[in-house]
Amino acid sequence: MPQHTLQFRFFSGSLAEENADAILLGAYTASPQPAPTQLVDRATKGTLAKRLARLGFSGERGKTLVLTDLPGVRAPVMIVVGLGPKSEIDERRLRDATLGGLKTLKTLPGLATAINTLPLLTPGSSPLAYRYAVEASHEAFYTFDLCKGKGQKREEPTRATLRRILFPAPPGRAKAEAAEAVRIGEAVAEGSAFAKDLGNLPPNIATPRYLAERARLIARGERRLTVKVLDEKDMHRLGMGALLGVAQGSREPPRLILLDYRGEKGAPSAPYVLVGKGITFDAGGISLKPAANMDEMKFDMSGAGAVLGTFVALKKLGLPLHAVGVVPACENLPGGSAVKPGDILTTHSGQTVEVLNTDAEGRLILCDALSYVARTYRPQTVIDAATLTGACVVALGHHPSGLFSNDEALVRDLEAASARSLDRVWRLPLWDDYQDELKSNFADFANIGTRDGGAITAACFLARFTRELTWAHLDIAGTAWKSGAAKGSTGRPVPLFVQYLLDRARGGRS
Ligand code: BES
Ligand code: MN
Ligand code: ZN
Repeated sequence: MPQHTLQFRFFSGSLAEENADAILLGAYTASPQPAPTQLVDRATKGTLAKRLARLGFSGERGKTLVLTDLPGVRAPVMIVVGLGPKSEIDERRLRDATLGGLKTLKTLPGLATAINTLPLLTPGSSPLAYRYAVEASHEAFYTFDLCKGKGQKREEPTRATLRRILFPAPPGRAKAEAAEAVRIGEAVAEGSAFAKDLGNLPPNIATPRYLAERARLIARGERRLTVKVLDEKDMHRLGMGALLGVAQGSREPPRLILLDYRGEKGAPSAPYVLVGKGITFDAGGISLKPAANMDEMKFDMSGAGAVLGTFVALKKLGLPLHAVGVVPACENLPGGSAVKPGDILTTHSGQTVEVLNTDAEGRLILCDALSYVARTYRPQTVIDAATLTGACVVALGHHPSGLFSNDEALVRDLEAASARSLDRVWRLPLWDDYQDELKSNFADFANIGTRDGGAITAACFLARFTRELTWAHLDIAGTAWKSGAAKGSTGRPVPLFVQYLLDRARGGRS
């Protein structure tokens, strides 16, 4: 599934004379304006500032204005994005400004080349700004129309026409760094788009077998990457009663997808392991969910999509490290043979679980995947991503993913990666105090606690399977997709995962 093709280039000539169809400029709420904006204003002999003033454009953050045919500049279209006060500008706001500006540009048909001046405004002129701009550009032009009928596609009013984005080149050595940042941004964007496509695909297409097939395709022709897929028979042999228990209510067979990426020379070291929840549809099982918005439970494989997308990026970047991806995948449906409230399952670890709510299925498939990881690999670290609980959305909303971990160094590394990737996380506690909630009269423990602190008790459940691991859990229920009019997958936490691995490849240790 090709994403909209965008090329990124640097140019070192004059901004006003460069051959382009549009220029993206920033405007603060007060002077002095950004240097590129001043430069264009001078080239237009003050027409730019005059027009902005005439239209009452105050530089308010999030506002965008389109001006055409200014004298003295070659590009016929100026897209001016409000940035708010200069004192408040940071990398995240600049990224959002690029996103907003390009979304406006996307509505203007016929533009093929645009200059983006916004990365130059980064405080401290960090090369990361170019990476964020690349990610935001792909984000702005991402569309998912694989499932639209042919006629509909032809009638789309404005097929995006933008093909090239130019950046004014930073001086000297900074240019090489900026070019490297662009390369990383392209890899992150490709991985994110891959994850988005998988999330957006309908659940009758994106089945566990389909995820396995896509994983195999990632590995095709790539020497460093091998993919192995375990089926039901393997799961029975391995005693994965929890994963099998969730899968048994559906006719769609489960899969456990294993990706092994060896980017180093010589003997492989202990891997970094990423685990992703791959419930390709979560109806809740016998503890059936209400009908409203149930379609959104096709996104319940977003953790899986993010793991696969991360391997897409990893392959593209060729990072010199050992990484393993693990995706337990199945449907959660209320079929005639479905697991019932009260059923007791024996997990791969040997611990038994009383299923008090079949809708708390994510932890059941993850626990078998996590104990499989503990038994099979000797990982440096293990990070899972899962759309695990509605409670996490209640606690944190839609901005950060919930972060839980049994290791302080891993928390620090993930928080650092989060800051660098602009892919937010927020830590919640994983104290043993909460473990009492999972008491069961009939099995070792139950799969749910009370309603209170639901994201935490879910994480505490997983913690019972990761005691010997350096492990973190990301609850991405609030961040993996957007609801409402712009419903769709976000591709998160691919940027965080890729950054975490980049940092490890650069010699950071957990
Ligand atoms: N996939 C859901 C979590 C979810 C719900 C994500 C809503 C995003 C939006 C998960 O499998 C689930 O159903 N969790 C239950 C757990 C409960 C039964 C303890 C929940 O959050 O309601
Ligand atoms: Mn559920
Ligand atoms: Zn679920």
